Amino acid sequence: MRIILTYGTFDLFHVGHIRLLKRLSELGDKLIVGVSTDEFNLKKGKKSFFSYAERAEIVQSCRYVDQVIPERDWEQKRNDILECNVDVFAMGDDWVGTFDSLKDICDVVYLERTENISTTDIKSKLAKINKSELDKIELHLHDLIDIVKILSDN
Ligand code: CTP
Repeated sequence: MRIILTYGTFDLFHVGHIRLLKRLSELGDKLIVGVSTDEFNLKKGKKSFFSYAERAEIVQSCRYVDQVIPERDWEQKRNDILECNVDVFAMGDDWVGTFDSLKDICDVVYLERTENISTTDIKSKLAKINKSELDKIELHLHDLIDIVKILSDN
């Protein structure tokens, strides 16, 4: 039984996450995913849209994932690898080199990220849509005020 372990926030679950999890599952027989808790995200300077419970439920529902565990701090990886008998520790290549110190207890691999998609990017695109909708509403309000003024003058 070859066991794979990865970690991440997995907020606003998207196709980049799916493709990574699919490729990870193909590396072995069991895929364990450490999902960052809300408290750990705060330490990393991140605030997720979905709560830990929601993100864990979504990741657990993915057909490529066998088990979800909470990721509470930076230091737990070595312990998780030993406790869960992990053969391969794997992350997206935005982390290349960062976890090489774990190579004494398991294989460490970095998989290519899917291009042109990230949670940060989705959040900023959504924020822009909201801003342009608000600008349109503001324009309509000004038109309405003008009409009310004209009507009250007459
Ligand atoms: N990932 C990926 N391809 C993407 C986005 C993410 O392979 N386009 C991988 C990351 O490399 C990581 C895992 O998915 O191993 C979880 O990443 P996460 O940080 O939760 O997703 P991001 O979309 O990168 O989120 P953010 O923008 O907040 O960093």
